[in-house]
Amino acid sequence: MKIAFVGKGGSGKTTLSSLFIRHLAASGAAAVAIDADINQHLGPALGLDEAEAAALPAMGERLPLIKDYLRGSNPRIASAATMIKTTPPGRGSRLVRVREPNPVYDACARPVELDGGAVRLMVTGPFTDADLGVACYHSKTGAVELYLNHLVDGPDEYVVVDMTAGSDSFASGMFTRFDMTFLVAEPTRKGVSVYRQYKEYARDFGVALKVVGNKIQEQDDIDFLRAEVGDDLLVTVGRSDWVRAMEKGRPPRFDLLEEANARALATLRATADATYERRDRERYMRQMVHFHLKNAESWGNERTGADLAAQVDPGFVLGEGVGASLEAGVSAPV
Ligand SMILES: Nc1ncnc2c1ncn2[C@@H]1O[C@H](COP(=O)(O)OP(=O)(O)O)[C@@H](O)[C@H]1O
Ligand SMILES: [Mg+2]
Repeated sequence: MKIAFVGKGGSGKTTLSSLFIRHLAASGAAAVAIDADINQHLGPALGLDEAEAAALPAMGERLPLIKDYLRGSNPRIASAATMIKTTPPGRGSRLVRVREPNPVYDACARPVELDGGAVRLMVTGPFTDADLGVACYHSKTGAVELYLNHLVDGPDEYVVVDMTAGSDSFASGMFTRFDMTFLVAEPTRKGVSVYRQYKEYARDFGVALKVVGNKIQEQDDIDFLRAEVGDDLLVTVGRSDWVRAMEKGRPPRFDLLEEANARALATLRATADATYERRDRERYMRQMVHFHLKNAESWGNERTGADLAAQVDPGFVLGEGVGASLEAGVSAPV
């Protein structure tokens, strides 16, 4: 399952992503945590100290390696240099899985021990002004998008992305890559306006979007969110003493998280899990191609000097049917 946490800065994306990842680890599920937020704080929220967080390898600096690995022997992709963030997989591409070892994880992921088990953590690396541009060939979130577009994941395997809701993810199509998007909103006008903007983009692409109310203090906060976002409001989370203690560097055992917050996390998971049966792999592939062709035309062809539309492998669908092999074949949608 691919799950994104988005929302305005300070709303609690990183906090709720980290709690959700801890919830998954505690249940024994396999998980990859990805920090693609402008403010890179997921490592510390998962308990890393400053030195450990600073030593995490940046995916954004390893784009050539990631591209080279993923393109494999795909004859439609002549070189890593002609691979842009939306270049879709096709026959010959290498696909990645949540649980396997592979060179992308070797280069970019580090294990983080949590109560119940370890998860893999990958980080985009700190953002610069150039990363916030819409086209940006070297975009750091591009590394994440390539990873997601080559990922074959089943139920009980999770990739959780802590993500900024910005123009970059809308232009590239990154926002369409998830089974479930949790929009974290405080009960404020600003929190709700980010939701409206996201909803607007999401509408045409069938993006599954639910609102997680955060920093809720009283019934009036819930009433406000309910009035503004209606049935999209899935759960609410109050101010957590567990989180406060964690931020002081003294994380209690995870099973001591407040019961209401633990229930909220279980609801998030059940909601994400419920989307599995409704997966539409052909639509997923179509959207990948749609955004690739859009990027090819608006900047990619010019930037690479290649006809990037020719990278699309017609009839190729990313699915579980591709089996254990690392090389992609054409599979009937499952
Ligand atoms: N439910 C919560 N309980 C207590 N503190 C919270 C909660 N949610 C967020 N915070 C605090 O609010 C601040 C911003 O949260 P953060 O997750 O970093 O936001 P974002 O990633 O959206 O920018 C952090 O100091 C965090 O600890
Ligand atoms: Mg954050």
